[in-house]
Amino acid sequence: MTLLSARRALRYRIARALALIFISWSLIELHFIQQRIREAGSIQRDKPARKERIYIASVNWNNEQVLRSHWNKALYTLVSELGAENVFVSIYESGSYDNTKGALRELDWQLDKLGIPRNITLSPVTHQDEIAAPAKGEGWITTPKGNTQLRRIPYLARIRNLSLLPLQDLARKGITFDKILFLNDVVFTPGDVFELLDTNKGDYGAACSLDFSKPPHYYDTFALRDSKGHEAIMQTWPYFSSQASRSAMKHMAPVPVTSCWNGMVAMPAKPFIDHPPLRFRGIPDSLAQRHLEGSECCLIHADNPLSTEKGVFLNPLVRVGYNGAAYAAVHPIMDWLSAWRVFQGVWTNRLRRLGDTSWLKAKTIRRRIDRWEALDTKHREDGQICIIDEMQILHRYGWIHV
Ligand SMILES: *[C@@H]1O[C@H](CO)[C@@H](O)[C@H](O)[C@H]1NC(C)=O
Ligand SMILES: *[C@@H]1O[C@H](CO)[C@@H](O)[C@H](O)[C@H]1NC(C)=O
Repeated sequence: MTLLSARRALRYRIARALALIFISWSLIELHFIQQRIREAGSIQRDKPARKERIYIASVNWNNEQVLRSHWNKALYTLVSELGAENVFVSIYESGSYDNTKGALRELDWQLDKLGIPRNITLSPVTHQDEIAAPAKGEGWITTPKGNTQLRRIPYLARIRNLSLLPLQDLARKGITFDKILFLNDVVFTPGDVFELLDTNKGDYGAACSLDFSKPPHYYDTFALRDSKGHEAIMQTWPYFSSQASRSAMKHMAPVPVTSCWNGMVAMPAKPFIDHPPLRFRGIPDSLAQRHLEGSECCLIHADNPLSTEKGVFLNPLVRVGYNGAAYAAVHPIMDWLSAWRVFQGVWTNRLRRLGDTSWLKAKTIRRRIDRWEALDTKHREDGQICIIDEMQILHRYGWIHV
């Protein structure tokens, strides 16, 4: 045997051994993850785990279709199972162009029959009205083209705050709640809500579901941050780069995160009636002027003292959809996470982490914030994990990037 062919044989043997190790490792890992997924997916909750008073808050805009196809019915069933004496429903609708108001009037009528305490506000003020108003006060920004435009996030924060007004009024009358359930216009079941409320045995600063519009990709990237404050590294399972978040996701356990707002969110009510009360907000206009933005739904976690005290969790057992097909695609759990998808997810995640350059983007943003903070001692932003390199303004039919 020549030296050359001996080397070739050795190389071949090493490659074969490595391939064998890779395959066995993958199979064993896959086996354990799938076993865990199967166990977790077999739990079904049909009752709330504890007796709690729940304030349900929802803001609605142009979503007549899902209200009529799923949402109204699900909310009706949910509140009847929780019991009229344990809930309050606060809905704020603002200037929809479709017949969202009609769908909510029907819901109002049905909730009335159950005797559910509620405040359903149907505001005639549209996006068009908002952007046509004189550019006074906070929430306006000068775009690169030199126009003064209404920022999207402070507007959303204002609307979300309005959905919390009744909470404050009730507190003054001595009527209080244990948790607030923030509900997006998603397809969900009462069982999903009971599971969400019971995340980490009911002990959390916030607990969120996972939302899907076009599965297998999750939907709301703007507000989700892993345990280290980083954006998800991929839009499919297992999503995260930080070890703690990734490992919990593989175990189908409540995932420690720093922020999430994916379809449904449960939070203790107390910070919202403290003095001063926790409220939704945007980053300051002068910071946003540097082409930066942060979601009101992320900043709320940055501002909530309970986030660090009790933790923020994403519960992978609670998956909601923005339409019936999206909901069906992630239920039951094994349909959502097939063996192939788990294998693909685990390895894509590893490779992405090796080639991760998100620190570069973060550095640019950090530099802009530093320059802003250096200008004035009053300049300070605690929600830096939320901030991304975007400028968002309200538009007649929604919003746009500039
Ligand atoms: C949110 O609500 C609080 C209290 O109601 C209010 O003072 C604040 O201005 C609101 N924030 C926005 C952005 O509207
Ligand atoms: C319902 O809520 C709106 C805004 O959130 C508030 O202005 C209104 O006073 C409330 N109505 C009642 C009857 O409490």
